[in-house]
Amino acid sequence: MARRKIVAGNWKMNMTPSEAVALVETLKPLVQSDEVDVVFGVPAIDIVPVVEACKGTNIEVAAENMYFEEKGAYTGEIAPAMLVDAGVKYVILGHSERRDYFHETSEDVNKKVLKAFEHGLTPIMCCGESLEQREQGITMDWIRQQVKVGFQNVTADQAKTAVIAYEPIWAIGTGRTATSEQAEEVCKGIRECIAEIYDTDTAEAIRIQYGGSVNAGNAAELFAMADIDGGLVGGASLKPDFGKIVNYK
Ligand code: G3H
Repeated sequence: MARRKIVAGNWKMNMTPSEAVALVETLKPLVQSDEVDVVFGVPAIDIVPVVEACKGTNIEVAAENMYFEEKGAYTGEIAPAMLVDAGVKYVILGHSERRDYFHETSEDVNKKVLKAFEHGLTPIMCCGESLEQREQGITMDWIRQQVKVGFQNVTADQAKTAVIAYEPIWAIGTGRTATSEQAEEVCKGIRECIAEIYDTDTAEAIRIQYGGSVNAGNAAELFAMADIDGGLVGGASLKPDFGKIVNYK
């Protein structure tokens, strides 16, 4: 069964609420697609106005993070039920910026992935190696470990609906995209890892994105690879070019 492509923007810490609504209005006509799932990953404060602005379109909204507890004394955190109530469908988890700057471990990411499923949110779980790890030849060992820990206690049925984003850290925001062969090699390896943890059906169903300097010029080649089911797009998701990435064919 052919997997449906999913192209998600990750706005990161950009766009005030009013800027966010203006950007949605700009992008709305450009990201129409019958073939691709389109997601805007937006800062927490932008979620409510962006969900409202996206009503009646094909666009779903993602949070960029979430906490793994239900509720309570966790100042500054956002609970899964809050996201669901606001109309969010996806949550980006374990982005390398969260792992690096906010010291999130794969165990933390796993707790968040489980909690997201519990609330009916679809996790977009990020993984990726540093340049040093790539040069040491340990890329796949590292990624397999991130995937295995991130998916601990996730059922096959849940995993089938999940999204994994492979984002080599050296390609994020650098303009240095992985070649389509490099990206495919790792995405294929991730699919094989899922087949080992679960089974072939699950591996065939799960969607794996590539992220790292995706732009209007390289999306078609990357997304044409057998194991790349779309992209997680940073910088280019803030521009009209995002429409060209969604309509990459
Ligand atoms: O989540 C998105 C990635 O970090 C990629 O960012 O497209 O700006 O390289 P970028």
